[in-house]
Amino acid sequence: MSSPTNRVSDSKIALITGASSGFGKETAKLLSTQGITVFGTSRNPSNAQDPDGFRMLRLDVTSDESVRSCIQELLLRTNGRIDILVNNAGFILFGAIEEATIEEAKMQLETNLFGVMRMVHAVLPTMRRQKGGQIINIGSLAGFIAVPFQGYYATAKFALEGYTEALRYETKKLGIKVSIVEPGFFKTNIGQAAKVANARIEDYKQPKKNALATLKHYEEEGQDPKIVAETILQIIQSNSPKLHYPVGKEKSALIYKRLLPQSIFESGARRRWKLDA
Ligand SMILES: NC(=O)c1ccc[n+]([C@@H]2O[C@H](COP(=O)([O-])OP(=O)(O)OC[C@H]3O[C@@H](n4cnc5c(N)ncnc54)[C@H](OP(=O)(O)O)[C@@H]3O)[C@@H](O)[C@H]2O)c1
Repeated sequence: MSSPTNRVSDSKIALITGASSGFGKETAKLLSTQGITVFGTSRNPSNAQDPDGFRMLRLDVTSDESVRSCIQELLLRTNGRIDILVNNAGFILFGAIEEATIEEAKMQLETNLFGVMRMVHAVLPTMRRQKGGQIINIGSLAGFIAVPFQGYYATAKFALEGYTEALRYETKKLGIKVSIVEPGFFKTNIGQAAKVANARIEDYKQPKKNALATLKHYEEEGQDPKIVAETILQIIQSNSPKLHYPVGKEKSALIYKRLLPQSIFESGARRRWKLDA
């Protein structure tokens, strides 16, 4: 429960899911320097206040009850206001599509897709009442170009693209702005936090090993997550934010995918991920 001294009402209020590391933490830090009152979240926050100056709330986006109590606590502390929601929380399930059980696939979608939906449901009534608000979803380049052995991650991110586009159509007249950020490879905790499908099928062993080696290389070469935080700040500062914000040095791949014949694009991708080696 909050004390009256915790209450805030003057500045814009932002909620960023998954602010214990990576993009979420960098974004929470950056927005806090801009006069925005920032609430970050973690499933296990060590402190109510992050040393970088933003507040932390407990949240597991896979739980209806956790989402309900997080938003209730936030609204109590902000006199019922929320201006910005950044849906960032997520993880990667690694493994062949056939190796992952349906339960494992559901876990991936519960966090990376239904988690976003839970949060949007929870904030829209307040944003509609305010006649204003902004929702920024963190998608991925993998929402346009699937990565082998991250099939359910791509499934969630492709679906998030359609969801975000539809939400934008529906809420614009209500004063609610909706955008999606689509990063390439960035240096965060996502590789270490990745879950691996339990089953092992011998036929996938070699291509999976090769794809993982390529992925590790991309992760090592990954860019600074501050770039994504800066993109999110630009979206917030923009008078008329766009729907799509691809970000990172790999974004030219989107143009290749659009322009090249599918067979040529696919051969290039097979070579890149060493699927036939
Ligand atoms: N890094 C990249 O190259 C990259 C590229 C494209 C897109 N993305 C996307 O960017 C977003 C952030 O990822 P990141 O790279 O910054 O990874 P990260 O450093 O691993 O951060 C992930 C955050 O999500 C939170 N989280 C995970 N599961 C959660 C759950 N069930 N409920 C609530 N919070 C949960 C974690 O918080 P706790 O563990 O403390 O709860 C953590 O703060 C993800 O949506 C990811 O798909 C990343």
